[in-house]
Amino acid sequence: MMYNNIDFNNKTILITGGAGFIGSNLAFYFQENFPKSTVIVFDCFRNTEIFANGNLKSFGHYKNLIGFKGRVICGNINNQADLALLGDYKFDFVFHQAAISDTRIYDQEIIMKTNVNSFYDLLARTKKDRAIMVYASSAATYGSQPSPQIEGNENPENPYGYSKYIMDQIASQYSKENPDLTIVGLRFFNVYGPREYYKAKTSSMVIQLGHQILNGKAPRLFKGSDKILRDFINIEDVLQANIKACKPKQNGTYNVGTGNPRSFQDIADILQQELGTNLGTEYIPNPYDGYQMHTQADIRASKVNLGFDPVVSLEEGIKTYIPEIKRLHGTDMS
Ligand SMILES: NC(=O)c1ccc[n+]([C@@H]2O[C@H](COP(=O)([O-])OP(=O)(O)OC[C@H]3O[C@@H](n4cnc5c(N)ncnc54)[C@H](O)[C@@H]3O)[C@@H](O)[C@H]2O)c1
Repeated sequence: MMYNNIDFNNKTILITGGAGFIGSNLAFYFQENFPKSTVIVFDCFRNTEIFANGNLKSFGHYKNLIGFKGRVICGNINNQADLALLGDYKFDFVFHQAAISDTRIYDQEIIMKTNVNSFYDLLARTKKDRAIMVYASSAATYGSQPSPQIEGNENPENPYGYSKYIMDQIASQYSKENPDLTIVGLRFFNVYGPREYYKAKTSSMVIQLGHQILNGKAPRLFKGSDKILRDFINIEDVLQANIKACKPKQNGTYNVGTGNPRSFQDIADILQQELGTNLGTEYIPNPYDGYQMHTQADIRASKVNLGFDPVVSLEEGIKTYIPEIKRLHGTDMS
């Protein structure tokens, strides 16, 4: 799918976090649509280290890249010696996805070092190469600000959201100091789609509920889930945003959602319809304080300045995802 007239053939593209969910989808997007592009994936991949919440420290997985014919470098964005491995290239585009992506990590130091400090290094690299920088921000920058969430009204409520909020400020300052550079941040809302499986408990509820249903169990939802709404965005539309962000009307940080919030109950119901089951729903108490009850991206600025136009409905997105959900069911995620 071509989203604009940029020809990425013969361009050199860095994807940090390219062994993760969004990064690996970007890698295949370029491979399939621009076979003459040179794509370099830079990712630390997973090891056995875990955070206090029992989740892995990084989710990158080689299985997300099977079939990818570009170059792969295993490196840590926190490590200058690893970043030096990129020294032989001159990048035209940098898609910076690498991050601690788990919103429930509370070790502030490691989050700030990984998500924020490395950003200075990557921006410096972008400047040196005169590359276009598109980086991942997050809807977590809004905390529980009322819907629709709009750029300029942030109030992060966890270290992850704060780290992305600081990245946005760094990007804004860098843009002011370097007006000739293209730097765009994308505030993804709840992304779902192929290659998210290895995020385990941090993958979307679409695949998690899908696998519960395939186990023959009623999908488990928090009580009142018909009233817990999120802006779920399909990976195809996230790819669209990344490509369009390479040619913005103006630098900035933009929301990437559908603008059309849906409930967790909707997800469970659509899945059951697609999987042909009638297992009902099991409701459990919501243990979280400060749980986001409603997110909805205000996408007016993304539409005007990026030309972003999300097209995949939740029904369509789940329907096309079902074969992949079935394929992965019960497979090893370690
Ligand atoms: N998926 C979503 O719903 C969503 C929502 C908002 C923002 N985001 C942001 O989008 C980006 C991509 O998210 P994702 O869903 O693909 O997550 P992911 O965890 O699958 O991808 C992140 C990748 O970064 C790598 N990484 C982590 N620390 C690293 C380090 N120190 N050095 C090198 N690589 C490192 C991981 O191995 C992983 O492959 C992240 O920045 C995330 O914060 C995602």
